[in-house]
Amino acid sequence: MLDARTIEVIKSTVPVLEVHGQTITTQFYQMMFKNHPELLNIFNHANQRQGKQSAALANAVYAAAAHIDRLEEILPVVKGIAQKHRALGIMPEHYPIVGQNLLAAIKTVLGDAATDEIMDAWSQAYGVIADVFISVEAEMYQEAEQKEGGWRGFRRFVVERKVKESDVITSFYLKPEDGGEIATYQPGQYITVRVKPKDQEFTHLRHYSLSTAPGHAYYRISVKREDAVGNQPAGVVSVHLHDKVKEGDVLDISAPAGDFTLDQSKSSPVVLLSGGVGLTPMISMLETLLTSSDKRDVVYIHAARCGSHHAMKEHVEQLTKDHADQLRSYHVYEAPAAGESCHKTGFIDLPWLQTVANNNADFYFCGPTPFMKAINHALKKWGVPDDRIHFEFFGPASSLNNE
Ligand code: HEM
Repeated sequence: MLDARTIEVIKSTVPVLEVHGQTITTQFYQMMFKNHPELLNIFNHANQRQGKQSAALANAVYAAAAHIDRLEEILPVVKGIAQKHRALGIMPEHYPIVGQNLLAAIKTVLGDAATDEIMDAWSQAYGVIADVFISVEAEMYQEAEQKEGGWRGFRRFVVERKVKESDVITSFYLKPEDGGEIATYQPGQYITVRVKPKDQEFTHLRHYSLSTAPGHAYYRISVKREDAVGNQPAGVVSVHLHDKVKEGDVLDISAPAGDFTLDQSKSSPVVLLSGGVGLTPMISMLETLLTSSDKRDVVYIHAARCGSHHAMKEHVEQLTKDHADQLRSYHVYEAPAAGESCHKTGFIDLPWLQTVANNNADFYFCGPTPFMKAINHALKKWGVPDDRIHFEFFGPASSLNNE
């Protein structure tokens, strides 16, 4: 437990560190990767380059420090991050490395302003925060291992089938090489893939949402090929999966994780909205809703650039026919090619949404950041309360409200 003076020092210095947040964490990563290059096997290099992870970690550490005397209030946020850490294989012994380098970065950036008292207070606070993460993650590792068909760390899965879903999205059907059971999951959860392409020095890890309802003898992920656009490089893992990984090859996979899940205790209508490859958790939720006995009313809305980018179109059309009493589905094309039909051209907006859905529903959405911001804004404007708005970002979570 921290004493009152330490808590006071922490709370009074949080705003100072927030001002320097980005500089400190950029410095922190440089130092940490210099001292521990092996951690480049775990961190996402693309996120590092774009400064995304720096911001995510900085915000989390300062948010935790600001709540240092009531950490239980931010436990749900801690759990979401801990799910990702567990899926990535973060271990207790990693925490002191992050702590030492973070403190050294604070000292370097703040210089004399970081007195011994301040540094000591931050060292203690980091220790308390790290202990919370370590104990939450320990429970998650245990849970993942003890679950029927579950396991700890990474397990080898054979790519049983590779199926092209659109010009840019391909599905991978994965079965464990050991022939054993696989753990079930909540619709909306992801698995984490670890690969080491031949031309890469380090392993690369990526989370991919499971794109079918649970209950199969396989896991399925559906991956968008991220080609280079402008000064944004191609996605190392997605291009490797599309171009190099063949049926019969083996991938390292960690057990399903994630807190963006369909709340199956409710009976309210559901609206599932996706942009591009954000459809993956939505398909899992959709299939689950259609096989459940409570027959909730479902509206499925998918936005794609055009018909050739529209994945799983026939599958959703078939489901819509088979479950006409329960499901309505729509697709919106940003720029349809000649002759392609869709329910709306351009983007999803509130006036259109109001013609196809009702605001008494629970809304689940996933897609690229501009899509997420537009949908969140539309739902707020429509008066949908926060507890019926559920979303998941690709990559590091960020704020929907900062623009
Ligand atoms: C992701 C916070 C310790 C490795 C994250 C994210 C946050 C965070 C907020 C982003 C989650 C998201 O995308 O939704 C923290 C805090 C820590 C801590 C507050 C200490 C108390 C660690 C440690 C390691 C680590 C000890 C391992 C050395 C990672 C990795 C990611 C991540 C690899 C994934 C993002 C990427 O690859 O760019 N963490 N973390 N974290 N964290 Fe931590």
